[in-house]
Amino acid sequence: QTIYLKDYTPFGWTAEEVHLTFVLAPSATRVRSRIRFAPNPDAPKQAFFLHGEQLKPISFAIDGTPVTPEITDTGLTCAVPEGGFTWEAEVEIAPVENFALEGLYMSNGMYCTQCEAEGFRKITFYPDRPDVMSVFTVRVEGAEKVKLSNGNPQDSGEGWAEWHDPWPKPAYLFALVAGDLVNHPGSFTTMSGRDVELNLWVRPGDEGKCAFGMEALKKSMKWDEEVYGREYDLDIFNIVAVDDFNMGAMENKGLNIFNSSAVLASPETATDANFERIEAIIAHEYFHNWTGNRITCRDWFQLCLKEGLTVFRDAQFTSDMRGEEVKRISDVIDLRGRQFPEDQGPLSHPVRPESFQEINNFYTATVYEKGAEVIGMLKRLVGDEGYAKALDLYFERHDGDAATIEDWLKVFEEATGRDLTQFKRWYSQAGTPHVAVSEAFADGTYTLTLKQHTPPTPGQPEKLPQVIPVAVGLLSPNGDEVVPTTVLELTEAEQSFTFEGLSAKPVPSILRGFSAPVVLERESTKEERAFLLAHDTDSFNRWEANRDLARECLVSMITEGAEPDTAWLDGLEAVIRDSALDPAYRALMLGTPTQSELAQVLHQRGVTPDPDAIWTATEVLKKTRAERWSNLLPHLAEEAKVTEPYQPDAEQSGKRALGSAVLALTSRLDGGEAAKAQFASADNMTLQLSALACLVQAGAGEEALAKFRAQWNGDRLVMDKWFGLQVAASGPSETADRAKALTEDPDFDMKNPNRFRAVMGALAMNHAGFHRIDGAGYRLLADWLIKLDEKNPQTTARMCSAFQTWKRYDETRRGLMQAELERIAAKPGLSRDVTEMVTRLLS
Ligand code: ARG
Ligand code: ZN
Repeated sequence: QTIYLKDYTPFGWTAEEVHLTFVLAPSATRVRSRIRFAPNPDAPKQAFFLHGEQLKPISFAIDGTPVTPEITDTGLTCAVPEGGFTWEAEVEIAPVENFALEGLYMSNGMYCTQCEAEGFRKITFYPDRPDVMSVFTVRVEGAEKVKLSNGNPQDSGEGWAEWHDPWPKPAYLFALVAGDLVNHPGSFTTMSGRDVELNLWVRPGDEGKCAFGMEALKKSMKWDEEVYGREYDLDIFNIVAVDDFNMGAMENKGLNIFNSSAVLASPETATDANFERIEAIIAHEYFHNWTGNRITCRDWFQLCLKEGLTVFRDAQFTSDMRGEEVKRISDVIDLRGRQFPEDQGPLSHPVRPESFQEINNFYTATVYEKGAEVIGMLKRLVGDEGYAKALDLYFERHDGDAATIEDWLKVFEEATGRDLTQFKRWYSQAGTPHVAVSEAFADGTYTLTLKQHTPPTPGQPEKLPQVIPVAVGLLSPNGDEVVPTTVLELTEAEQSFTFEGLSAKPVPSILRGFSAPVVLERESTKEERAFLLAHDTDSFNRWEANRDLARECLVSMITEGAEPDTAWLDGLEAVIRDSALDPAYRALMLGTPTQSELAQVLHQRGVTPDPDAIWTATEVLKKTRAERWSNLLPHLAEEAKVTEPYQPDAEQSGKRALGSAVLALTSRLDGGEAAKAQFASADNMTLQLSALACLVQAGAGEEALAKFRAQWNGDRLVMDKWFGLQVAASGPSETADRAKALTEDPDFDMKNPNRFRAVMGALAMNHAGFHRIDGAGYRLLADWLIKLDEKNPQTTARMCSAFQTWKRYDETRRGLMQAELERIAAKPGLSRDVTEMVTRLLS
């Protein structure tokens, strides 16, 4: 059944107060609800319907009189009085049997919830839609030491605790946690002087992994006050870490629940990348308190209203904490790696989708990351001041609302006077626009002509021109910037822009800072790119020039059997030798396009990608670099050494990132000697894991893998790394076999999403390994998706996207992938989640 945006109708009642009582028991938890409903004057007349799934009904009453509603698989209908009334229900649920990890479930003996998007209906009968907002009071009864819910603690006694959340909220923000947890406490004084109690709740044994998360929370609270003027609004803020969680984390009001991988960290067990991700996710969930909770979404089609904006805000935060240029480059790598393939294949959908079958399938890179890019463009178009004014108006006008993208755009129009009719197409048109550039120079006038074109996507054969902000700077032939960054607004299908008074034909630096999520098409010479690599004043485009050269080099190696481009390697060497540049930036410069990115580039140029040829070229290039830079590497390794005690800050992480890029090259020359030494002496996970990866990659990892396992056997998060790395770093011929062997390991547990993703996600990400020509990779993944779907449809459905590029490949691979997708589709009793994904993939 498909749900459409155009069919939106408000619910016929408002929920004025909600009282819930939970009597906890693993296989028979009782949930009693008492809800005061009143007719909603803004809604058309309708039957009284409450969502409810997998609930065992016990009793129902209206105004104290028992009633017998009509119950189906999806909910209940009931005759109700004309005016307001009190609804009471009691149901029974079995958290211990809930492996979908949606609703109330158990993780390692603790109770926890995940209600976004539509999990509350698995807890009790309710109008489970974000535009029904209510004030919740919750009583939890159980023997567990710690019993938490949203809002402020109200009262407690032996075996029970009561919570009251004064802020009206939709059911998807409901949360409950109970277990024998321990807390890492903290406190924060808000800008108006209110003291807030902070707690990070973990399982006993994890206390030593909390300090960083707590500090990140305080920094986030401070930053949101300083940058957005947003203050926290309860007496307490709780975060809980759980081991079994489908996503990263969840912004439940006053009670954020986190996948333990997204919050727990210590230097010994977490890498620099883990620390950075944790800081960002803590910030993200905290920022949702205003962009998501105080102002929520009217319906799930508006998901990007909170997610795009909150991703944009967390990216601003990370830039402020760790440096803008590195953050921007990393985000663009991620966008091209995850969002572009989605936008350019059968799963393509607009930032604001217009229909869905299962909303969980739309928590995508398009809604989140492209959604954030759209806000970045808007900010560039209206300027920082316009943005700040619009946001102030948004918070003022819509506090307490369930809002829409129309509401969002309207505050920008009113605050800035700008007409956003055309801009709105970014929300409705799917697909990645291509922008082709041509240039002319005569009599001191330089003309740039930009042409835009968006290829068709499912259901959208024709596209209209979008507003594309193209940030451009011009350099003179001797490397001076003659025109500083200027934003060209491309609004037509084709448009020319002129720059006058130039004494020589300039070199353009186009799409600076990646000012729009588009594919730039420009014929330019290697010399010109090398010039930009040496001289561009925009650090993003300097990196991009290098990326272009790397791409061109690899493409000609793959398609023409060319040798690696040594002129480029020399130009790059000059950059990485420049010790005035940030080590983190130089580490990014040392990165090469991923194999799937190369497949995407080849496909765009009409060449069928051959994963083996791509892998070989990538290997040859790495080896060539290692040999060519053999004298430089020891020098860089020295520069990358950190002598101070471990800190997961930007400065040290940058050095270690450079060091690990250098170690990867060195390992191509010394068979893993340096990596072995680093593995033996490492006192932090970043160094230990990068050494282990080099050893596995060099085919010399068995001993170190065994040691690593013996050392970390009791630590689930570290063992996830052990599982994932072996598959990620293995050669293409053995990837699938390794992954298969690991699924037979006694510590493999498909019910734990982190462990499942560690193996299956790594398989899908190992491009050449996944695409092994005999189909072993496809088969293994499909086997496990079929198995997991019976337990956890949501995680299964997400992982189906591993097949999203299937149409790009040769006939053999295409046929094999299609057959696996059809095999999944044919599974009797397949979930709605996976059915929708597979149907879209095959269409
Ligand atoms: N709102 C959460 C976040 O972005 C993600 C929740 C995802 N839940 C889901 N069922 N897909 O922080
Ligand atoms: Zn979010």
